[in-house]
Amino acid sequence: MRKPRGGIPSAPGVGGDHRSQELRGRVAENRDLRHGYYRVAVEVEGIRPTFRAGQFFMLRVENGSDPLLPRAYSIYRMAQGGRGRSRRRSGASVVFLYKVIGRGTAQLAGCRAGAAVDLFGPLGNAFTVPAGADELVLVAGGIGVPPVIALAEALAARRRNGGGGRSLRPTMVAFLGGRSKVDILCAADFRRADVRLSVATEDGSAGERGLVTDLLERHLESPPAGSRAIYACGPPGMLRRVADVAAAHALPCQLSMEAPMGCGIGICMGCAIPVRGDRYRLCCKDGPVFEASEVLW
Ligand SMILES: Cc1cc2nc3c(=O)[nH]c(=O)nc-3n(C[C@H](O)[C@H](O)[C@H](O)COP(=O)(O)OP(=O)(O)OC[C@H]3O[C@@H](n4cnc5c(N)ncnc54)[C@H](O)[C@@H]3O)c2cc1C
Ligand code: FES
Repeated sequence: MRKPRGGIPSAPGVGGDHRSQELRGRVAENRDLRHGYYRVAVEVEGIRPTFRAGQFFMLRVENGSDPLLPRAYSIYRMAQGGRGRSRRRSGASVVFLYKVIGRGTAQLAGCRAGAAVDLFGPLGNAFTVPAGADELVLVAGGIGVPPVIALAEALAARRRNGGGGRSLRPTMVAFLGGRSKVDILCAADFRRADVRLSVATEDGSAGERGLVTDLLERHLESPPAGSRAIYACGPPGMLRRVADVAAAHALPCQLSMEAPMGCGIGICMGCAIPVRGDRYRLCCKDGPVFEASEVLW
């Protein structure tokens, strides 16, 4: 089974060492974006500020043993970090977006600046963009947006740095969806990354009324200017539909998947995902990015 490997480094690092490490971090900022969404920046010493779009950290608030297990969070951004002494050493500010769902995320939402967190990462594989790709079609639903905007920003940074050969390629279009306008995150980030953005909400409070996959399907009816590939992250129902649409158009498609994770490193077997050929793959170790054509729903 071919699985996406490698990936595009995100700004500011190019290349770099992506070995995972057990780390201790401090919350620098934990901003309530309202309606249950938060953005947390964690200052981490002893880590280089590089990652590949799609990778994630396991993160746990240092607060006794409830919940015992860390939670997985996709990396939204990573930048040179640390203040004062820690900045002079190597360090990074790792930024995550999250939605409060249960105990782990509620506990994180309660963290003030200075709170200690344990992290492990960066983990997992990443989105890959083939050399010479002409058009990337990005699809994100709700809190699935971090790895998708990370990919767009990595490509935008590569363009700014003159990389990638043909300066205007690949072009990027993005479709963002959610139940309501409060579920639409990072729209300004996409525009800043020079991505043509369309939005759909189920209640019609932002963009078009309907599903984000309706926008995707309509877009794919237009003839491509060259090679086209789809990159998506979001709830399982959305990913399944994206996979079906990609298959109907015979387009390559990579999905950043979620599964319940205990360890994040292939030990607990809690994150198995069924794939073709009566087999399973581990979301943490073999993913979280999978070729859509390989996933069994
Ligand atoms: C690779 C990967 C990347 C992820 N990236 C992010 C991210 O960037 N931001 C983010 O907010 N979350 C992300 N998640 C999900 C995150 O790890 C947690 O599972 C989720 O936030 C819920 O944790 P919790 O402790 O709050 O809820 P729990 O207490 O674990 O669960 C409470 C209840 O909600 C259900 N539940 C758990 N997860 C979800 C879910 N995703 N949607 C709906 N119901 C759920 C559980 O079955 C349970 O019934 C990612 C997961 C993976 C595997
Ligand atoms: S989370 Fe333990 S094997 Fe994947």
